[in-house]
Amino acid sequence: MGRARRLNGIPARFDLSNWEMLVSLKELLFNAMPLWDANLYLRFGQERTQAALDLAGHIELDRPRRIVDLGCGPGNSTAVLRARWPEAEITGLDRSPEMLAEARRAWHDCRWIEGDIANWSAAEPCDLLFSNAALQWVHGHALLIPHLLEQVAPGGALAVQVPMHFDSPLHRRMREFALDARWRERMGPAFNALVRERPEFYYDLLAPRSARLRIWETEYMQPMDSPAAILDFIRGTGLRPYLEALADDTERALYLELLADAVAHDYPPRPNGKVLFPFRRLFFIAYR
Ligand SMILES: C[S@@+](CC[C@H](N)C(=O)[O-])C[C@H]1O[C@@H](n2cnc3c(N)ncnc32)[C@H](O)[C@@H]1O
Repeated sequence: MGRARRLNGIPARFDLSNWEMLVSLKELLFNAMPLWDANLYLRFGQERTQAALDLAGHIELDRPRRIVDLGCGPGNSTAVLRARWPEAEITGLDRSPEMLAEARRAWHDCRWIEGDIANWSAAEPCDLLFSNAALQWVHGHALLIPHLLEQVAPGGALAVQVPMHFDSPLHRRMREFALDARWRERMGPAFNALVRERPEFYYDLLAPRSARLRIWETEYMQPMDSPAAILDFIRGTGLRPYLEALADDTERALYLELLADAVAHDYPPRPNGKVLFPFRRLFFIAYR
């Protein structure tokens, strides 16, 4: 089984090409996994899973015994944990039955439970509580994050990644067009759907409660085939609340048309025809 290489005591980023198990994981995820209902999500599975790999690669725990993946989705992040810690007892928790059905179908050696992160507590303390790209959907981080840390056993860790690209041209345009007079009165829930706390917020919250804390941001420069691919990417996640707030397909088509024009302007093609889509993400690992 591949292990994270250590540089000056810090595990290096996991490298897909050097990590045997992740080769098969990659094949399963990107070749064999059928397009489940939210197929847009896994269409960009590689981009989305990279952050889970990077987060897992920075966790300095040798043999966590009990691991929980909060907001496990279709199991892609959970599979990263299984590959790194083959002997651990791993549970994936999600509130979406569709996502869990996909996880159960694709991965057999983890436990999958349906539940809401907002009112979840561990039956027994975890050695690693992991969450990739999910906590932004759960409000009340001032209480939630300390509560999650309390579910971690002494010596264990809470490891989290959340998107931090709300100041991007894409998100600004999503908000700008949501203010269109035709539908702005219905957009309240969409504006509030995602938690948008700053890194300093998490630092202040966790530093006094942790034995050790690492916090960092990474901006992934994602080459996309076209501006339309950027919209496809975000339609699987952050754009959903806006589309759900619109009355019908006619409104959705109008909104998407406005957005498509703006995205084509804001993300011009590179000389090779690709479009670069910068995506900033926040990571933190709090050790108890
Ligand atoms: C963007 S996906 C992340 C999936 C996976 N962790 C990954 O790394 O790609 C977010 C997941 O969080 C789940 N989720 C959102 N809010 C939740 C909540 N309150 N309780 C449990 N799961 C939640 C969604 O159902 C979805 O599957």
